[in-house]
Amino acid sequence: MNIGCLRLKNAICLAPMAGITDLPFRTIVREFGCGLAFTEMVSANGLVRGMGKTSRYLDSSPADRPLGVQLFGSDPETLAEAVRMTVDRGADLVDMNMGCPVKKVVKTGSGAALMRNPQQVAVILQAMRKATDLPLTLKIRAGWRHREVNALAIGHIAEECGVDAVILHPRTADQGFGGEADWGLIAALKAQMRIPVIGSGDVRRPEDATRMFRETGCDGVMVGRGVLGNPWLMRNILHRLSGGDVFVPSCADRMEIIRHHLAMTVEYYGEKGGTRDFRKHLLWYTKGLRGGAQFRQAAGQITDLASAWKVLQDYFQNLEKTVGT
Ligand SMILES: Cc1cc2nc3c(=O)[nH]c(=O)nc-3n(C[C@H](O)[C@H](O)[C@H](O)COP(=O)(O)O)c2cc1C
Repeated sequence: MNIGCLRLKNAICLAPMAGITDLPFRTIVREFGCGLAFTEMVSANGLVRGMGKTSRYLDSSPADRPLGVQLFGSDPETLAEAVRMTVDRGADLVDMNMGCPVKKVVKTGSGAALMRNPQQVAVILQAMRKATDLPLTLKIRAGWRHREVNALAIGHIAEECGVDAVILHPRTADQGFGGEADWGLIAALKAQMRIPVIGSGDVRRPEDATRMFRETGCDGVMVGRGVLGNPWLMRNILHRLSGGDVFVPSCADRMEIIRHHLAMTVEYYGEKGGTRDFRKHLLWYTKGLRGGAQFRQAAGQITDLASAWKVLQDYFQNLEKTVGT
């Protein structure tokens, strides 16, 4: 898939996820073949005003390529300035968030709230388009709510404004993550667009990605929650697409990736912050495995690398004994 001037090695993308898709996590998922990864949504206002740690979300590395930086905001000038800053910090692509349903965001007129104001959508996208020649994408939901599904109209505006691809998570904002993503809407958007359409929502197994391509005709597939604790999904999707077998990680495989991910997280955030941040990943990596409940209790207490290694080693040694892998 090409997005503007950017040629991707494959069409499987890692979704932007707030509090999750930081540099260490993106690096892990890329090791499993991901074609394009996104930062979590970054406040344009925070960036431009130099607030707190906002600019840290733009941290990247040579292995973390190609990188899409996702911005949110509602003021066209601020967003255009944030685009310039993002490009200066080395982004390969800029994405505009018009899908976030979180109250704190929509009450400022940002995120999915913008879908209720198509005129403002056009003004914002034109300002962002003028600010860079790099690929510019737009991530939307189906619409604000059931009676206001307007992804097709917003997609049309995006194309008119010179956006290079549209990413659609076909749930309404008021649905949150409830119900099923309406892949029919991805198909309808694809049918009307000249620029690439990337589908997002409910790709949890390799065959879901194959089915999304087949049923919607989309150009790319974006994977979010499915890779939490399961970066192997990324490679398995690619294998399945080329007719290959799906790989099931052994205890040793899991342990190796967890250690590697934890080490990168600690290197990036420091020991205390890194181990604390990693607790959620430990829960995802061991979800559904035997003895998980006990492990989760211990994992919730870790505050340093030594205790994290110990908890992990004890757990996986016991698990190996019981499942024999
Ligand atoms: C914890 C979490 C955080 C998210 N943060 C963002 C975000 O910052 N920007 C965005 O556009 N979408 C965000 N999303 C939505 C995902 O990018 C994706 O569209 C959605 O989860 C559906 O895909 P999935 O079923 O593969 O998870 C987030 C989703 C989750 C679960």
